[in-house]
This record gives sequence, structure tokens and C-alpha cells, in this order.
Amino acid sequence: MKKEHSLQGLNTMGFNVIAKYFCEINTLDDIKKLIDDKTFKESKKLFLGGGSNILFADEYFDGIVIHSNLKGISFVECEQSTDNGQPEFLTARCMSGETWKDFVDFTVSNNLYGLENLVDIPGSVGAAPVQNIGAYGSEVKDCITRVYAINIENGEERIFENEECNFAYRNSIFKKEENKKYFIYAIDFKLKKDAELKLEYGNIKEYLVKKNIESPTLSDVANAIKTIRAEKLPEVGVVGSVGSFFQNPIIDADKYQSIKETYPEVPSYPNDNGVKIPAGWLIDKAGWKGYRENHVGVWDKQALVLVHYGGGKPEEILNLMNKIQCSVKEEFGVEIKPEVNIV
Ligand code: EPU
Repeated sequence: MKKEHSLQGLNTMGFNVIAKYFCEINTLDDIKKLIDDKTFKESKKLFLGGGSNILFADEYFDGIVIHSNLKGISFVECEQSTDNGQPEFLTARCMSGETWKDFVDFTVSNNLYGLENLVDIPGSVGAAPVQNIGAYGSEVKDCITRVYAINIENGEERIFENEECNFAYRNSIFKKEENKKYFIYAIDFKLKKDAELKLEYGNIKEYLVKKNIESPTLSDVANAIKTIRAEKLPEVGVVGSVGSFFQNPIIDADKYQSIKETYPEVPSYPNDNGVKIPAGWLIDKAGWKGYRENHVGVWDKQALVLVHYGGGKPEEILNLMNKIQCSVKEEFGVEIKPEVNIV
């Protein structure tokens, strides 16, 4: 266990946050040993993966940060199709400390379908189910079969089947306060061996047409999304950010109609609970895109992303967040909530 450890490389916002205690988990035994440790028992605890969806409100974390460094990917089972005897699915078990990008690249290079639309999302594998990461028409919940966890209060192991995870838009059972005791150590992903590409979202098709790709392969799609992401989002490690800072709000039909009267072009995605409106569009229309204030700002290619240019403090981002929330509320009467976890 380290004391007074800098988390600068472990939060993609790039703030120089100091953790009172920091512990890296390299084997499952490490976590079991930690559970009996007096300091561990008495401290406030935080599991931290790649730190790509977290905002420390303070520059000092008065507790213990636990970081999984568990590595390894293995294939554990396959299901036989009736037609040709080839396995139709493969289940890959991935340890929580693997980097998400590397794991997705591994599945694509092994010609396994399911995660290709989630390429290049920063963070660790262990963090993926917590907020049910999603992009370009895919969500990780559709591939996860099981999540393996250890209850750090009593050391007991618990396996969560997909249905038990209560996955929803950027949400799961693991986000609930009472479940923050579960240290996720591995995840099973069910991956398809047959082609089934999702090209409907955004400008994936447009990109493929531009490149004269008529019958895209798995890696064509992965590369298309990598390029589209790189054009819109700041490069991790170069400019501080947490990807989408806000959730896309779901508003009722009346509110949607009233916005549409003034802005007929408003993008909208109707769902069971109302109409989902892109927060990035609201922030953009409210005039914030490209705005900069000292060390922080709003990304000029995607208004949903707040950025830290370096040398700043978390409170600067929190101030900017508040200003944007008030401005969107004033302009559209819509409340936007942070997507990032603020601790
Ligand atoms: N838009 C604007 N101005 C902007 C940004 C967006 O007008 O500055 C408009 C776009 O033109 C488009 C709509 O808003 O019509 C939606 O934008 P986009 O397709 O870029 O997606 P998003 O809703 O802003 C979501 C996810 C992203 C994910 C993308 C692609 C959330 C909160 N965000 O963004 O996830 O990569 O779709 O699938 O659901 C993340 O979670 O960190 C993240 C980046």
C-alpha cells in the first residue's frame, strides 16, 4: 500500500489528485489479503480503473484507492451451431485490469463480433459494466454474460449473471451505493463468430461509402469508428477529458414539441420513457462549443465534452459544469445531468 500517491496518470481529466492510500491489485490473493488490513477496513474506499469516467471534486482523496492490475484473456466456452459444426459463439473471459481498447482490438483481430462499435473507448475492462458503456448503436450489456466480483466487506465471491446486473442506459446495479463493495475481477463476454455488423448509427455508412467500401469487414467497421471518434473527441493523454460529460436527457413529448417549434432541426430519439435529446446539441445551441475559461473549456468538435488543458483544478470544471447546466435550463427548460461520476 502506498501513501500520498498521485493519481494524475489515473484520471483522464489529468488533475493532480493525491490519494491518501493507493493499492494495486496484481493477484486475487492481493484483494483477499487487503480485506483483513486494518487501514483498509477503516478507510473510505474507491475502485479506480482507467479513471476515464471519474471527476475528483477535490485535489485530495481522503481514503484508499484500489486499482486492478489483473491481466489475462482466455476463451472459456463455445456454443456449437447446428449447420457446420463450427462454434457460433465464443466466450472470452477478460480480467478487470486489462485496457478496454486493447481487449476490443484483440476481439477484432480474432474475428469475433460484438464489441467492434465500442473501439477506442478509454478505460479498463472492469469499469465497462459499471456504467454499461455504449457508443455507435452498441452497448456492452449485449455481450456480457457474467461479472465476477468479490465482496470486500466479507471476502465472498459473487457471480452476477447478465440479468442480475440491471443494465440500462449508462447504468447498472454496480452504480448503486450499496453495491460499491463489489470489486469486479473478471467478466465473460459472449462473442459471435458470424458477421453481424451494426452500421446504422451516425455517419458510419457515410464513412464507408467515402472509402469505397461496399462489403465492410469487421476491421473496416472498427477502423471507421476509430477515425470518426478521433475526429470528434480529444486524444486521451493529450487533452484532459472524460468523454461525454453529460447524459443525454429524456424529455416528455410536450417539451420536445415546444423545442421543435423554435428549432425544427432538433435531433431526437424517441424511447419508452419520452424523447431523448442529445445533450451535445443543447449545449452547442446554447453557444458553448469551443468556449474556454482559463484551464478548462468545451471541446470545439463535440460540445458534450468538457476539457482540461492542464494546470487547472477540479473546481474549474465544476464551475463550468454549473454554468452550462444553468444556461441549458434557461434556454430550453431542460435539466442535464453529469454522466461522469463525481467523487
Ligand atoms: N451534436 C451537435 N453538436 C455537438 C455535438 C452533437 O449538434 O457539439 C448533435 C449531432 O449532430 C448529432 C447528435 O447531437 O445529431 C448526437 O451526437 P453524437 O452522435 O456525436 O452522439 P452523442 O449523443 O453526443 C453519444 C454518447 C457517446 C458516444 C456517441 C456515439 C452519451 C452521453 N454519449 O454521444 O459516448 O460515443 O453517442 O455513439 O450517450 C461517452 O459516453 O463518453 C461517449 C463519448
